[in-house]
Amino acid sequence: MNNAQLFERAQQVIPGGVNSPVRAFRAVGGTPRFIARAQGAYMWDAEDQQYIDYIGSWGPMILGHGHPAVLEAVLAAAREGFSFGAPTEREVELAEAIVAQVPSIEQVRLVSSGTEAGMSAIRLARGATGRSKIIKFEGCYHGHADALLVKAGSGLATFGHPTSAGVPAEVVQHTLVLEYNNLEQIEEAFRTQGAEIACVMIEPIAGNMNFVRAQVPFVKRIRELCDQHGALFVFDEVMTGFRVALGSAQSVYAKAIPGFRPDISVFGKVIGGGMPLAAFGTTRRIMQNLAPLGPVYQAGTLSGNPVATACGLATLKEISQPGFYEALGAKTRALIDGLKAAADAAGVPFCVDSEGGMFGFFFTDSLPQNYNVVMATDKERFNRFFHGMLERGVYLAPALYEAGFVSAAHSDADIEATLAAARAVFATL
Ligand SMILES: Cc1ncc(COP(=O)(O)O)c(C=O)c1O
Repeated sequence: MNNAQLFERAQQVIPGGVNSPVRAFRAVGGTPRFIARAQGAYMWDAEDQQYIDYIGSWGPMILGHGHPAVLEAVLAAAREGFSFGAPTEREVELAEAIVAQVPSIEQVRLVSSGTEAGMSAIRLARGATGRSKIIKFEGCYHGHADALLVKAGSGLATFGHPTSAGVPAEVVQHTLVLEYNNLEQIEEAFRTQGAEIACVMIEPIAGNMNFVRAQVPFVKRIRELCDQHGALFVFDEVMTGFRVALGSAQSVYAKAIPGFRPDISVFGKVIGGGMPLAAFGTTRRIMQNLAPLGPVYQAGTLSGNPVATACGLATLKEISQPGFYEALGAKTRALIDGLKAAADAAGVPFCVDSEGGMFGFFFTDSLPQNYNVVMATDKERFNRFFHGMLERGVYLAPALYEAGFVSAAHSDADIEATLAAARAVFATL
């Protein structure tokens, strides 16, 4: 069956034909590619068309697909058993491996998805502080838990509106949504409601509005405000964790803000290496609130799954090799600098940014600082670029608000082939 036939068939039995909305290509139009297999930097669809993959399963595949050591670890683990519902040594090893790289964390709880980890982190923050209100930022995605599917209200003093049907207004009444990188708004929020705020949750480098960095003074000020008012600072590193640096985005901010640490960190994607695995971590003191030690309940049948932890551990082992992130970062920069040069040569307004193996590009003159600016960039040009690249065998994220990912498996020749395609496509824009 070809992609179109599979999509038709899928729509009969799966809503929209997909199990996660962005896969449906609604933002860019056209037929989603049904992937048959993947190896290294490449994927092949149902029609055996080959693509250079810059999505990497939306971040996890930092080593590329089917890395031999990871594959071997997964096969060996599967032979030992799929799931036990009892503790295993491998969970301890993975927790130790995460804790070893992230100084803000003394303990982690493993779960199965970023949504679950983000939702549990919020519950832990609320339980630990005894407060209800949370702050999030427009354009940051923290999974699809009710309290986090919120957009800003009409004024700063008002709480947000649900962005999804089925989320009661009462459930988001404790969620305050502010503009990303807006210092005045966060100051005002703490001035008026500081004593009631349990936590501020942020994507430090927001990959769900393409690629937008939280400015250093913004992060520094949130840290100070949280400390002054007894609120917890939650870094959602589901996307950035072990992707932008071995120490994750928090290590990037710690370079600019001496001593900087978030209170709670949320991980997913890379720590599972492509298997369903995520985590949230913090200090022992805060973690004491979590069941079975404390009153904040959290649990999972498949949490710390033995096959998933094997995959995550093998991945972490590979990415901990000296020089891994230097090489990945250089490769990613070669890609985005090349894209920028190609756009400039064609006279197309374009700008780029990257950190480690995560990148973004925008059809506009200067890097956006918040969600509204991202959404005002040239969508029509983005869509034509996306389809032009796809036709030439380059698989980019099918929406202008998504980040891109480079893996260790991408070769210089892959980057050059991508740039050759980009030069051809920019010439048509
Ligand atoms: C920053 C961030 N947080 C949370 C999530 C939710 O993770 P999951 O899709 O594993 O539930 C995502 C997913 O893309 C994410 O990018």
